[in-house]
Amino acid sequence: MLKLKVPATSANLGPGFDTLGLAMKVYNTFIFSEIDRGIDLIIRDKSTGEIFEIPQEDNLLYQAMKFLFNKRGKEFTGLKIIEEINIPFARGMGSSATAVTAGLVAANILMGKPYTEQEIIDFSVEIEGHPDNVLPALKGGFVINVMGDNGLVYKKMTVSNNLKIVMIIPDFQLKTEDLRSVLPDKIQYRDAIFNQSRTALLTACFYDNDWSKLRSAMEDRLHQDYRADLIPGFHKLLKIAYQSGALGVALSGAGPSLLAFCKQDEELIGQNMAAEFAEFNINSTYIITEVDNKGIQVEKTGVK
Ligand code: HSE
Repeated sequence: MLKLKVPATSANLGPGFDTLGLAMKVYNTFIFSEIDRGIDLIIRDKSTGEIFEIPQEDNLLYQAMKFLFNKRGKEFTGLKIIEEINIPFARGMGSSATAVTAGLVAANILMGKPYTEQEIIDFSVEIEGHPDNVLPALKGGFVINVMGDNGLVYKKMTVSNNLKIVMIIPDFQLKTEDLRSVLPDKIQYRDAIFNQSRTALLTACFYDNDWSKLRSAMEDRLHQDYRADLIPGFHKLLKIAYQSGALGVALSGAGPSLLAFCKQDEELIGQNMAAEFAEFNINSTYIITEVDNKGIQVEKTGVK
């Protein structure tokens, strides 16, 4: 039996488009056991037990595993796989990154680890298309990602648990590809400077766990305003979160969820943001969590 626990992730964090991401203490779990032949895949909601009917070929975990088995010229068969889903789909919380990373890490273990960690990282980025969810899913913490000529270069920082995260999750889904399609082809030089200065500042905040400058550090001009049209109330939610005591607020990944950092007042921030979504006739839930510093966790019994 092989069990992988993979954290939810929040990418961008405001200015760090396709660059910054962090892992959170909310997890999807993937359990693998041997059967005689074929692939038996069950995807279920961890809390309600509801079964999601997703065709095998469309399932990201299946695709990632098959990708690695095929690369090695091996047959992908003889497995029962249970996916226990705790991270809502298509909400900007890295649910697809959990499936991609779990699929690659599991396939590598099941084949006797022919691939290095760097190769697994690079395959994850190749499948996902951007690095800022898969890296924190694999490594945990706050991660800076650079697409290098010879693969991904990253730096992970461990984050203090005095930083609380309020994640407000609306009850509608948006696909990352749709949220990328609204971005312009070109940006102004001044907007690039606006973002690179804030990305540097935000990284420095995480370097020494100093949360006093998060508000300035999390402003963005590269993606949020373009995506805001698809997320009713976005700018008002930002405002209400700050008024309620948040230290820094941003779209979580491509959205539609929003992430607010705070040291206190987490319930108030969550309630007020949910009330603001309700003003736009949108139901939402919020969760309070903190940074996961471990990344993917592997437990195995009876597998080489
Ligand atoms: N950097 C990606 C984007 C993250 O904003 O499109 C998607 O979760």
